[in-house]
Amino acid sequence: MKIAVLPGDGIGTEIVAEAVKVLQALDLQFEMEMALVGGAAYDAYGHPLPDATLQLARQADAVLFGAVGDWKYDTLDRPLRPEQAILGLRKNLGLFANFRPAICYEQLVGASSLKPELIGGLDILIIRELTGDIYFGQPRGRRVATDGLFPGAEEAFDTMRYSRPEIERIAHVAFQAARKRSHRVTSVDKANVLETFQFWKDVVSDIGKQYPDVALDHMYVDNAAMQLVREPKKFDVVVTGNMFGDILSDEAAMLTGSIGMLPSASLNASNQGLYEPSHGSAPDIAGKGIANPLATILSAAMMLRYSLNQEAAAQRIEAAVKTVLNQGLRTADIFSAGMTRVGTVEMGAAVVKALT
Ligand code: IPM
Ligand code: MG
Repeated sequence: MKIAVLPGDGIGTEIVAEAVKVLQALDLQFEMEMALVGGAAYDAYGHPLPDATLQLARQADAVLFGAVGDWKYDTLDRPLRPEQAILGLRKNLGLFANFRPAICYEQLVGASSLKPELIGGLDILIIRELTGDIYFGQPRGRRVATDGLFPGAEEAFDTMRYSRPEIERIAHVAFQAARKRSHRVTSVDKANVLETFQFWKDVVSDIGKQYPDVALDHMYVDNAAMQLVREPKKFDVVVTGNMFGDILSDEAAMLTGSIGMLPSASLNASNQGLYEPSHGSAPDIAGKGIANPLATILSAAMMLRYSLNQEAAAQRIEAAVKTVLNQGLRTADIFSAGMTRVGTVEMGAAVVKALT
């Protein structure tokens, strides 16, 4: 089992270090190799996704990824920005299926900005298409407008597009995931305005006919954004495109109290995967030792489950996370009165200790 470890920038290095310690404590035979990615790679090699890093990721069974980005790179040309590293990895490895579970841990019900009764027991799975949509559409760029409201003015454009096979394969992923849960899928679109998403809706409906045991409903993205905070437990599996999935998964994350708790998995057709916390590099708290490593540790558990076929080890990690929460240990993002405030390293060590 070969794992490429790509900590990246900001808190990425701090949280990945803790996840690596947890993996090492499992007594499984991993080969782990580390490489630079994002701003760290740009500083060292002049590119956010150096060839050596990409090759390492390609050859590995799984990639454990931290986070990339820092304000200091905001003025770089787009292809050199740290974010291009994660986009390039997703595209190059064909990681089209992004799983972002939003689970509210009983112990953290009070940490959410929503009322406890709305989120207690919450367990949503957002499945985000990850290699298409306006993120990767062509053409894109800047030019002088020849039509529109302001001909002659400078304009920028990106292209939203989806092909039938791209929608079909993510729809299959969603329906199959629903079969292991409550047999319900909500497909989120903007079919009332965008042709791309009328097509999305039509194709998802077509695939749905192959899954008569799964109930499918469709929702416009604006309504979905509202329903997520109004009555989040109405949702089970949510499937949507790259752009809407980016936005809705951040929203769903906050339902659970902190984005610092949410893992994610991005898989290709052969179950090779990239595992990363749903949050970013948080440069504002980087280097302070206060970041929550649990999202990354839980991402490592997803890696064991989906790419490395080690279900028992995945469950050991998840149980250990529940144990430390029960012990009252809290990083700053999930802290509340009466709990014990701990830093990144202490939290990682507590999880290692709680492994049984
Ligand atoms: C995410 C992030 C990325 C995205 C950025 C860093 C490119 O927000 O994984 O959700 O937009 O997909
Ligand atoms: Mg995002």
